[in-house]
Amino acid sequence: MQDQDHRWLRWPTEPARRRIAFGADYNPEQWPPHVWDDDVRAMRAAGLNIVSLGIFSWARIQPGADVWDFTWLDEVMDLLHANSIAVDLATGTASPPHWLTTKHPEILPVDHEGRTVWPGARQHWRPTSPVFREHALRLVRAMAERYGRHPALVAWHVSNEFGCHNAYDYSDAAAAAFRDWLRARYRSTAALNRAWTTAVWSQRYSDWAEILPPRWTGAGSQPNPAQRLDFLRFSSDALREHLRAERDLLRELTPEVPVTTNFMVAASVRAVDYARWAGEVDFVANDHYVVPGPQGLDELSFSANLTGNLAGGRPWFLMEHSTSAVSWQPINVAKRPGELARDSLTHVAHGADAVCFFQWRQSAGGAEKYHSAMVPHAGTDTAVFRAVCELGATLRDLARVAGAHRTPARAAILFDWESWWAAEQDPRPSDRVRYRQEALDWYTAFLDLGIRADVTPLDADWERYDLVVAPLLHMVPGGLAARLTVYAIAGGHVVTTYCSGIVDEHDHVWLGGYPGALCDLLGIRIEEFAPLLDDERAELDNGTTGTVWSDRIDLTDPATEVLARYRTGEQAGRPAVTRRPTGSGSAAYVSTRLGAGGVAAILDELAGRAGVTSELPPELRGAVELAVRGPHRFLINRTDRPVDVSAVAGAATILGPRAVIVVR
Ligand code: GLA
Ligand code: GLA
Repeated sequence: MQDQDHRWLRWPTEPARRRIAFGADYNPEQWPPHVWDDDVRAMRAAGLNIVSLGIFSWARIQPGADVWDFTWLDEVMDLLHANSIAVDLATGTASPPHWLTTKHPEILPVDHEGRTVWPGARQHWRPTSPVFREHALRLVRAMAERYGRHPALVAWHVSNEFGCHNAYDYSDAAAAAFRDWLRARYRSTAALNRAWTTAVWSQRYSDWAEILPPRWTGAGSQPNPAQRLDFLRFSSDALREHLRAERDLLRELTPEVPVTTNFMVAASVRAVDYARWAGEVDFVANDHYVVPGPQGLDELSFSANLTGNLAGGRPWFLMEHSTSAVSWQPINVAKRPGELARDSLTHVAHGADAVCFFQWRQSAGGAEKYHSAMVPHAGTDTAVFRAVCELGATLRDLARVAGAHRTPARAAILFDWESWWAAEQDPRPSDRVRYRQEALDWYTAFLDLGIRADVTPLDADWERYDLVVAPLLHMVPGGLAARLTVYAIAGGHVVTTYCSGIVDEHDHVWLGGYPGALCDLLGIRIEEFAPLLDDERAELDNGTTGTVWSDRIDLTDPATEVLARYRTGEQAGRPAVTRRPTGSGSAAYVSTRLGAGGVAAILDELAGRAGVTSELPPELRGAVELAVRGPHRFLINRTDRPVDVSAVAGAATILGPRAVIVVR
């Protein structure tokens, strides 16, 4: 299952020309044509072999309802082709032009307070608007007919970052589509009334027409949580419908050209359930931007790892990341020397067969003028451009890696968008609970221990792992507890945390005590939630400290062991971490937020007892991240100091600060 195995997907470059794609978003419409020649010259010098083109070009391509201007794009396509640079061509539908929104303001999204999302930024369109759909598909058809056979074209890039700015629309068009979606899900209002527990607060519906999206109900009013959860599901599906509509038309017009769209598997983006999207594209593509801070690199690795597993372990396409600072964080920090290459190669380590940036040339004006690019404001005589050229050469040397699948680890973190949504939705015992941060802390703990772990969607085939950690598995639909139990009895080792097992797929609490659906598996029972106040700490007898949460745990199975007890606080003397043997496996529960350091102390023991060990020599554990793609082993220096990796590299090798090497 490796090397040149792109059979499952239609990869944008032929497997015969095995290479790692290297490129950028290219926005030539921001520059006069004479700059285009400089662009392609510099692209060639840096080794670019692909660009994404036309992402925000709708207004330029179609300046009026029946006015089309392809001449500039023809010229750019030809110029790129003449310079052996392939094109991932956008359908151009990401941001509608002013003539369209002026004529059809009914395509503009509406927020939950009823405010119109006006033009002036981008992506101001309703995913459910039939009018928008019609105009978007008209553009898609025009693009496909014009460029479907252009020799530069290697892939279609549908829209851009679905849901980045228009994830939630509460308009009348959305209301109509939401009702259709609910009708398909529940079939009767009686079933919907049960699912939404509308017996509470006189919310019973007697007709589908009465149902609305969860619009503003007033400050502190606690709108129906099941309604909101379904709206999140619906919103992800509504965007997916638009993806499918564009994709289906492209497949009809240009069946030989692969279709993708850029996901946003990244720290703060949670609107799209990518586990339900990955099967919709011919190859998975992702955009990722680093969050500055001590876990920045770990978060990058986590996202790349999850993306690779969304792609089923097959190669995927890094569509965007940054050469240096972004321009949308509160403080936009430039990358330090080495980070540009390290970040890129960490994506490659987790299965990316393409390394692309936003964007090629840094804008001189507009909303993104302070966002870094491959060619910065200061030009090509810069450290950034030199680092770009070096990266191009490195990727050329790594062509042998292209096509290799990820090699699964023995441990996995299960990631679930619905638990993310449900755990962080009001009302809740504590609004300090953070789903993705908890998952990331477990990932950092694995990295600190030098144990390779996959981050994998909950609906994947995770039974093949020896150890699965499901942090904050808040929502456990019927069937999942049984699946976990069967896995554990068969020898699998399950770890979960506070706030897990609480509700089913309708956000109904599993009755009989917490952690609800998982009580029997874990051999514990909790009668009341015991979240901690911000200034409260709960010390454990293993030297770690809990925050955010604690539980008053009763053991219900004499076989359940206590791995750590609370030493201070309300629960002093009571179990904090438990482990129940199950057949030849086990099920462990961590009842408080320990942070990455505290998690590592527990994980060390749990992994050891599951027989999952580090593949790195002791002196490299924590200092180096190991990622494996078939015969290619990536060693990523997580530190700012040189690390001697001779033991793994097979020859005397010092890995510089923030450096990456690939060994066989
Ligand atoms: C108020 C309301 C009740 C209930 C409680 C909860 O008192 O009248 O219906 O919502 O708050 O604290
Ligand atoms: C997103 C968008 C790009 C650009 C970058 C900037 O990824 O897709 O158009 O705005 O953010 O970080």
